[in-house]
Amino acid sequence: MATLSLLPVWAFIYLLAVSPQEREASGPMAIGEAVYGACASCHGAAGQGGAGRVLHEGEVLKTFPHIEDMLNFVYTGSQPFVSAGLAVYGNPDREGGAHAPLSYNGNAMPAQGESWGGGLTNYEILGVVCHERYAIGGADPKSEQWAAEYATWCSEDSEIFAALESGTIDFNTLAETFSMLETPPREVGTQARPSK
Ligand code: HEC
Repeated sequence: MATLSLLPVWAFIYLLAVSPQEREASGPMAIGEAVYGACASCHGAAGQGGAGRVLHEGEVLKTFPHIEDMLNFVYTGSQPFVSAGLAVYGNPDREGGAHAPLSYNGNAMPAQGESWGGGLTNYEILGVVCHERYAIGGADPKSEQWAAEYATWCSEDSEIFAALESGTIDFNTLAETFSMLETPPREVGTQARPSK
């Protein structure tokens, strides 16, 4: 009898011990860390660059002061910018010079979004962009400059991430659907376009 009554306690301790490893990644930052493995071969594990551009030490934030423009670029990759005749992607007034498509070793950033043949869903793109801005790029989620963006897009409570994950919105409908937020999102879109 004594052994039996101890069983639930034992089972509970066992669950506590195994659950952290078994829990699946969730939330933008955790998903993004996992997805970034596929980007690291070109951009470097710490975003130090390689076949792909340097992302760390604020570099990617200079190119994309607004997360919406970065989501758009990662979705399409470089080629649609070339085809659309756009001379630059990202901020045209970028500190250190604007980035022209195919201006880094002549290599293209491969498209990640589905309509351009990429393999990532919209919420995975948001996750990896959050990872590149906040874990690699140097944006501090607690700073005055970035706190609102982080809360809106990259925190565990991000309603935009949740809606992308459940499939109720996509990069084309996001801005309109969430126009009532305290920090309303700008257009993302899935076609190459100038940064706003
Ligand atoms: C095959 C190599 C390769 C892979 C894999 C790759 N990239 Fe890139 N990436 C590039 C290249 C090259 C550029 C520069 C593009 C250009 O000049 O048109 C770039 C540019 C970028 C930029 C713009 C940086 C800036 O400041 O101009 C971002 C953001 C980016 N990549 C994100 C990602 C993400 C996210 C992934 C993974 C999902 C990824 N990349 C995977 C090669 C790659």
